Amino acid sequence: MKSLEVFSNLATSLDGKIATSSREFFILGSPKDLLLLRKLRDSADAIVFGAEVLRAFRRPCLPLRKNHRITNAVLSRDLRGIDPDWPFFVDARIDRVLYISGKLSAARRAKFAERSRIVELKSHDVAKEILRDLSKQGMSKIGVEGGGSVMWEFARQNLIDRYYVTIVPRILAGKGAPTLVDGAGFFPTEVLNLKLEKVRKVGSELFLIYSALGARGHRHPLLK
Ligand SMILES: NC(=O)c1ccc[n+]([C@@H]2O[C@H](COP(=O)([O-])OP(=O)(O)OC[C@H]3O[C@@H](n4cnc5c(N)ncnc54)[C@H](OP(=O)(O)O)[C@@H]3O)[C@@H](O)[C@H]2O)c1
Repeated sequence: MKSLEVFSNLATSLDGKIATSSREFFILGSPKDLLLLRKLRDSADAIVFGAEVLRAFRRPCLPLRKNHRITNAVLSRDLRGIDPDWPFFVDARIDRVLYISGKLSAARRAKFAERSRIVELKSHDVAKEILRDLSKQGMSKIGVEGGGSVMWEFARQNLIDRYYVTIVPRILAGKGAPTLVDGAGFFPTEVLNLKLEKVRKVGSELFLIYSALGARGHRHPLLK
C-alpha cells in the first residue's frame, strides 16, 4: 500500500458532542472553523464520512479551491433512506465512492452506479479496507470527517495520524448525541494516547491538533 496520511477534522461542543441527539444538520462551529474544514479538504485527495452525514447534509462536501477535485467517500451498510437524486449524487465537481457492507437490490445498485463507484466491503475491518482501496486509486492523503460511528471505525484501529478538533463554546448535552468517537469504545488497556501539537485560540473557540502516539493503554501512575 502506498504510504498514506490520514487526518480527522471535527468540531465538538465543550461536552464532546458533534451534533444534538436529533442528529439534524446544523453548523456547530464558527465561519473560521468552516474555513479550516474547507482548507483541509484542499490538502486531501479524499474525505470519508458516514451515511448519517449524507442523510443530514445531502450535498457534496467541497474544498475551498475550485480547481481541486476531491473524492467524497461514504460508508453505509445498504444506503437505506438515501436518494440517488439528492444533489450529492448529481454534482459534477466531486468524484463519489460508496463503501457498502450489506446488500443492495440490483435496481438500486444500478441507479447509484450511474454516478458513483460502488465498493462492496468484505471484512470487518472496514476502515483498513477503505484506506487500502483509496490507496490503490493513487490517493495518499485522506480526511476522515465523521461522524462518531465512522470515527470509531478508524480510531479503533489507530489509523488516524492527526486529529484536528475545534472546541466550540457550546453545550449540546444529551445521552444519545453523537460524540467525537462513538462505537463500542476501548478498555483501559486499549485507549489511544495522543500528543498535543498545536493550540490556537480564536475568540472563544479552540483549534487543536493532536498527533497519534504508537503507545496504547492507560495505567494510573499511582497504580504502577
Ligand atoms: N461537528 C462535526 O464536526 C460533525 C462532523 C460529522 C458529522 N457530524 C454530525 O454527526 C451526526 C452523524 O454522526 P453519527 O455518528 O450518527 O453517524 P456517521 O458516523 O456519520 O454515520 C453512521 C453510519 O455510517 C455507516 N457505518 C458506520 N459503521 C459502519 C460499518 N462498520 N459498516 C458499514 N456502514 C457503517 C452506517 O450507515 P447506514 O445507516 O447507511 O448503514 C451508519 O449508520 C450528524 O448529525 C452530523 O451532522 C458533525
